Amino acid sequence: MKISKIKGFADLYGTESDRFTLMENQARKIFGACGFTELRTPILEYTDLFKRSIGEETDVVNKEMYTLTTEKGRSYSLRPEATAGVMRAYIENALYSKNQICRLFTTGPMFRHERPQKGRLRQFHQINCECLGSESPLADADMITMLMRFLHALGLQRIQLEINSLGCKQCRPVFRQALRQFLDALPEGNLCEDCRRRRTTNPLRVLDCKHEECKKLIEKAPRITDYLCEDCQRHFAVVLDILRQQHVEAHLNPKLVRGLDYYCRTTFEVVSGEIGSQSAVAGGGRYDGLISALGGPDIPGIGFACGMERLALLLPEPEPEVPDFYLLVMEEKDSSRAFLLLQELREHGLCGEMNFTCQSFKSLMRQADKSQALFCLIFGSEESASNSLTIKSMRDGTQQSVPLDHVLPFLQEHCHE
Ligand code: HAM
Repeated sequence: MKISKIKGFADLYGTESDRFTLMENQARKIFGACGFTELRTPILEYTDLFKRSIGEETDVVNKEMYTLTTEKGRSYSLRPEATAGVMRAYIENALYSKNQICRLFTTGPMFRHERPQKGRLRQFHQINCECLGSESPLADADMITMLMRFLHALGLQRIQLEINSLGCKQCRPVFRQALRQFLDALPEGNLCEDCRRRRTTNPLRVLDCKHEECKKLIEKAPRITDYLCEDCQRHFAVVLDILRQQHVEAHLNPKLVRGLDYYCRTTFEVVSGEIGSQSAVAGGGRYDGLISALGGPDIPGIGFACGMERLALLLPEPEPEVPDFYLLVMEEKDSSRAFLLLQELREHGLCGEMNFTCQSFKSLMRQADKSQALFCLIFGSEESASNSLTIKSMRDGTQQSVPLDHVLPFLQEHCHE
């Protein structure tokens, strides 16, 4: 039986893989310039970490985790997101003792057992940033501005930043109560099955239900922004004001509640209208109580993650890397001499390959053509006898004989003109 990949999992190769490299390089450049250093956490963590951080009542923890239990009864889960693992690592390695503000960047695969569709996979990749140690609204504005700079640097134009404040321990329960009262007063049976359950377990999640019926029913629901306490109001106003001054356009969306329980105050998503229903390319927010809830010191934090598969859908076809040469050797007896030359050229930073088995000139030329190299270096019997190569420009077809010991300077001169 042929073994295929698991549903919702994907192989990344060719231009798709190039797009991922491009995103990671751009992320390292832009986030690095803002003081972020890289943290790589394990893909597998104790299930309790996700229960305690993301929340037991969230779909992510409740329905979507890949969990395995050992014979001894220990439960491990594949990470469904990066934040929980980053917080664990931050606490466990006492990273808070190094700098007052700690900025951590993580990238890699995440796993959620959701129904696969365009832009939604079961193994997907995130670029994730966390800024720990400041409760200033400047930190919020800094993270959002940096995220937008990153997305624009990737060439994304038609994207929209949506923003909301989820309040804090003081004001959110008051809003929750008002929302529950509103939901309880709705005609029984009109909400979808999930929302009927959420009404008691996690009423805020009803606000971003995707069912048309539910959307209509909650049109007149109370708005969290009307319930913010004075401190939360002030915090949010400063964030919005700084974004405005930075010319970062933010669209206020009081129904933006996010699918993870750790958030407080500023939350945001970046959406695109060009990739179908899975339109969020990035999401994040503040989570001031999370580190202490996981047993660490009382340190505030804010972060975001971008979905790389969704960003890849929006990126233009990357320019292919053009090799400098293709070394074409006609006879086995010359292969080792050609191989030594190949290694010498590469050691000097030139990029190219050679044929390892000798075939007809025509088929080797076809391979040289396919490689899109700038120059084809032909090593046939005549060249072998005269210790030279024929160098053919694959751009204009001109060719010339070059002594073997002049090949390196020739390519150095002509490849990066
Ligand atoms: P999230 O909104 O669950 O937030 O995920 C962030 C992004 O990951 C989404 O906007 C989306 O682009 C991508 N994503 C999520 N699920 C899938 C999927 N099944 N297939 C493809 N892409 C997906 C978080 O994960 C938070 N940890 C972000 C954060 C960091 N908040 C604070 N710090």
